[in-house]
Amino acid sequence: MDEAKEYANQWDVSARFFYEQGYYSWMAQQIEQMHTVVEVGCGTGYSTLALVENGHNVIAIEKNHNCIVKAKQLLTERGITDDRVVFIEGDIAEDAFRNGLAAEYEFNAVLCWNVGSYWNKNMIEYYLPYMLQYGLNRWQIAQNPESSYAELILWETCRLAQAKGVAVHIVDRGAETLNEQNDPYYKMLKDEFGYKKIEYANHSALSISKGGRMLSTKGVVNKDELLDIILVSILMR
Ligand SMILES: C[S@@+](CC[C@H](N)C(=O)[O-])C[C@H]1O[C@@H](n2cnc3c(N)ncnc32)[C@H](O)[C@@H]1O
Repeated sequence: MDEAKEYANQWDVSARFFYEQGYYSWMAQQIEQMHTVVEVGCGTGYSTLALVENGHNVIAIEKNHNCIVKAKQLLTERGITDDRVVFIEGDIAEDAFRNGLAAEYEFNAVLCWNVGSYWNKNMIEYYLPYMLQYGLNRWQIAQNPESSYAELILWETCRLAQAKGVAVHIVDRGAETLNEQNDPYYKMLKDEFGYKKIEYANHSALSISKGGRMLSTKGVVNKDELLDIILVSILMR
C-alpha cells in the first residue's frame, strides 16, 4: 500500500477515537464565536464533523487525496452535504495555494489541529527548502525533522491568518500542560505575527498510538496502544 493511503487508514482510527471521546468537541468549543474557519489539514474529517456540529462553517484544506476522500464520505454519511463544508485539496506551504485561499474566501479564523504524526522521511527532499525559508537551519532540521515540519505548517497557518487579519487556533498533543509561563514557542509566533492576545487551555486525554497512527517523541516511536496526553489549545487573536 502506498504511504499516503496507509496514513489515511491509520489516522482514521486515531481520529475516530478522538471524536468518540469528545475531544474534537472540546477543541471546537474553544473557538465558539468564530463562525467560518479554515481547517488546515482536515485529515479524514472527524474534526470537520465536530466543527459543523458545533455550528461552524468549514473550509477544509487537505493535501492527502486519500484523507479528503474519506472526509467527504464521512460528512455525507452524517447527512452534511450542503455548503457548511467546502473541501479543497492542496498544500498550505505553497504560496499560490495559500494566497488563492486568502483572495477567494472569507473566514474568521484559521485552525491547525494535531498536525504532528504526519511526517515520513520521503518528505525531506521536497520540504527542506520550505523549512529553510521558515528559518530553521540544517542541523535543527536533521535533529528533528518531524517537529521541524510541524513548525513549518504552523507558521504557514499563521501566514494565511495574517493575510486576512484573523485569529489562529492551534491544538497540539503534548506531555505537559502549557501556559504563559512555560511557553516560549507560541509566544514567539504571537509576536512575529503581531497578535495582541494569546489564550491557553489544556485537556487531559488519551491518544491511540499502536493500532492507529503511531506517535513518536523526538523520533522514537511509541508502541503502546493508548497514551496519556495533554491536548493543548492555543488561541491567538
Ligand atoms: C494528524 S492529521 C490531523 C487531522 C485533523 N486536523 C485532526 O485533528 O483530526 C494532520 C493532517 O494534516 C495534513 N497535512 C499535512 N501537511 C499538510 C500540508 N502541507 N497542507 C495541507 N494538509 C497537510 C495531513 O495530510 C493530515 O491529514
